[in-house]
Amino acid sequence: MKVLLIGSGGREHALALALAKSPKLTELYIAPGNAGMAGLGQRLDIPVDDIEGLLLFASREQIALTVVGPELPLSLGIVDQFQKARLPIFGPTQAAARLESSKAFAKEVMFSHGVPTAPYFQCQNEAEIVGAMEKLGSPYVIKADGLAAGKGVTVTPDYQTAKEVALSMLSSHKHVVIEGFLAGKELSVLALCDGEKAIPLLAAQDFKRAYDNNEGPNTGGMGAYAPVDWASEALYQDIEKKIFQPIMAAMKARGTPYRGILYAGLMIESKNNSLSPWVIEFNARFGDPETQVIIPLLSVDLLPLLYACAEGTLPQQTGRKEWFTTNTYAVTVTLAAPGYPGTLDTKAQGSPLLLENTLTEDSFLFHAGSKLNAHSQASISGGRILNITGLGSSQSNAQEQAYHLVREVQAKNPLLWCRWDIAGPETSASASALINSA
Ligand code: AMP
Ligand code: GLY
Repeated sequence: MKVLLIGSGGREHALALALAKSPKLTELYIAPGNAGMAGLGQRLDIPVDDIEGLLLFASREQIALTVVGPELPLSLGIVDQFQKARLPIFGPTQAAARLESSKAFAKEVMFSHGVPTAPYFQCQNEAEIVGAMEKLGSPYVIKADGLAAGKGVTVTPDYQTAKEVALSMLSSHKHVVIEGFLAGKELSVLALCDGEKAIPLLAAQDFKRAYDNNEGPNTGGMGAYAPVDWASEALYQDIEKKIFQPIMAAMKARGTPYRGILYAGLMIESKNNSLSPWVIEFNARFGDPETQVIIPLLSVDLLPLLYACAEGTLPQQTGRKEWFTTNTYAVTVTLAAPGYPGTLDTKAQGSPLLLENTLTEDSFLFHAGSKLNAHSQASISGGRILNITGLGSSQSNAQEQAYHLVREVQAKNPLLWCRWDIAGPETSASASALINSA
């Protein structure tokens, strides 16, 4: 199979590595990819939002499967265009991708099908904002409607700050969403979907705040680990029954069946001796950096699974049991450029990356923001530069593996910084410990 992968981040690097290993693959093309993916496939100089260019390439080369990484082409309708041209493609249509591109749409679908999520108000002016804040109370959760690359959410206990943020969001968005605060532990569950079935992969947890101890601003993700020890079998089953099954049925009933990956960002509440899932948000794509820990744990070929999603033929399996290496943990740490997540230090951008590390079977170095410079060297380009993943027989072994390589890379690239508490001991509690501590 000739495969075209769209995207250029750490997530796509992890997907490219898995696709490149597939015995079914004849050729991998990556549009546009990054400096780290050079050995995995042929890079194409087509930007992710050039739908026409991508379509032209895929028809000319008779691509057997196109895999869409980022949300932008999905929200532009790339899947609709490919389907019209009868080119198999992994991802949701524009209408289905609204589960991510419009928070208001996602909320409406969840409410009408009884999927647990926080109450919310969609506000268009100051009076509506004040009214919603009074009804829902503190802490306030303010969200922009539309794609905001992880930067569209503010959670604050302070009335004045909340009101100012909501008003300033209104100046650039038609609506702001004000929603009830959910308390608990966050969990990312990504499911492969074929229009009928949704099969969840191993759950992961990501670290969104910039600095240690979950301090600092929100980022695109400073690290992640999988599997999550406290995600019990009962919780997985609840997530399927209360979230994925009703959403799949709802999307099908609306005439917009969901295919591709559905990422549920969950808050897990511990109450009455059990753990209950609440949806914070949906994404219509693989999570980043969750993918950098989930994909290295796969024990089966990824390519036929993605193809089955596109064709509506996923096997009836419990993915988390049959598709993954057992008793193995993965931890990924993001190395970021100076200035991230604020204004990037322009002096660091373009500096060469020195990466002559020896990778073992238990470590992976994914490029997230790198570009080849004029001398064909990988160089710093963007905010999140590398994701370093370690595997191990326990979470702490995997963490050790990851940080061992992080230190090696940092010794030669002292400009890059990271969090030092990804997957720390407090994250490996059991489900019963979590329930008892509530
Ligand atoms: P999002 O961009 O929707 O993933 O939100 C960013 C972060 O804001 C989430 O990872 C949560 O930590 C937090 N958040 C979003 N919505 C809520 C909510 N309703 N209650 C509590 N925290 C929330
Ligand atoms: N890890 C968060 C996201 O992919 O949106």
